[in-house]
Amino acid sequence: MAQHVGILTSGGDCPGLNAAIRAVAKAGLEAGDMEFVGFRDGFRGLVQDRTMSLDGDALSGILTNGGTILGTSRDKPHKMPIGGKPQDMTAAAAETYRRHALDALVCIGGGGTQKNALRLQEAGLRIITLPKTIDNDIAGTDVSFGYDTALQTATEAIDRLHSTATSHARVIVLETMGHRAGWLALGAGIAGGADVILIPEIPYRVEVVADAIRARVRRGKRFSIVAVAEGAMTGEEAETVRKLVNSKNHAATKEQKRRASVDLDAFHNHHVDHTVRLTQQLEKLTGLESRLTILGHLQRGGAPSAADRILATRLGTACAQLLRDGVHGVMVAQVDGAVKTVPLEAVAGKKKLVPPDGGLVGAARQLGTCFGGD
Ligand code: F6P
Repeated sequence: MAQHVGILTSGGDCPGLNAAIRAVAKAGLEAGDMEFVGFRDGFRGLVQDRTMSLDGDALSGILTNGGTILGTSRDKPHKMPIGGKPQDMTAAAAETYRRHALDALVCIGGGGTQKNALRLQEAGLRIITLPKTIDNDIAGTDVSFGYDTALQTATEAIDRLHSTATSHARVIVLETMGHRAGWLALGAGIAGGADVILIPEIPYRVEVVADAIRARVRRGKRFSIVAVAEGAMTGEEAETVRKLVNSKNHAATKEQKRRASVDLDAFHNHHVDHTVRLTQQLEKLTGLESRLTILGHLQRGGAPSAADRILATRLGTACAQLLRDGVHGVMVAQVDGAVKTVPLEAVAGKKKLVPPDGGLVGAARQLGTCFGGD
């Protein structure tokens, strides 16, 4: 008898999601031992039982398309806003799973999705996940699909900014996405030859950045490119966050925890435009005209790169085989270049950050790239 398998995509979209949906479902349909149903808009579609058929027609022609044919959302089953109030909808999600007589549910998503997937697995559903995100910050996998395409987009942006920065003898700051990790800024900064790279993993001082730019001017370089991760912070900001996270994690009362959460949110809300302030400070400190480019969602859009299509296809087809073998409770990952399974417990709630003393940062440092630290 054919296995019944559900598929959903959750969290921020990224290039390669359609390639992954296609790989899982096509591999199952080709072998003739599986039937698939897609849930719309992430976990919300599972809770509300909103589906789309994933037959051969639906899968045709989607390999090269960005986004996700299923739609996505950041909703969590255990805290889903219903009528403006977060409610635990885990039972409704499980009910849909049973109504469709599913043997397993494939959840394609980033760090948040891995946590939600583990919760559903613990609630008795059979879950298997695939890692996607442009941030490349999912623990347990060398890389996630979406990253390569976004990296290419951010690198191309740096290439383009070089010519205008040179012509006007300006400082150009490029803000990349990446959430709390620096993979995108670091990768694009290295590939595009940025002069300064600022990432959350290495707190910076604006004076150090200005010194590096002034030193370039003394060497006859009249322009500078500064690649900044959206989560990059000065030393003082990093210390503020460290203290707030610490108070939240070790709060003695619910009220203390609530206050630390409010302060942490206020910090992040204020931090949203930190690159605007950084650009103004650099102009003042260096005397060079400075401009800011925020790449934003351009990094999430468009057709997946060949590398992302291949990765999504490799992980997706491996997922189909694992479903066939009855494996669940795992993420299908690339580990040291090979396709492996990683228990959801080893992924959920963890983050893969840039090692400040790792090879990538080391290579950039050897070329004189400034990271803004002392
Ligand atoms: O996780 C992917 C990501 O693009 C992050 O880099 C960014 O911080 C966030 O999503 C933006 O989310 P949204 O599209 O919900 O504003």
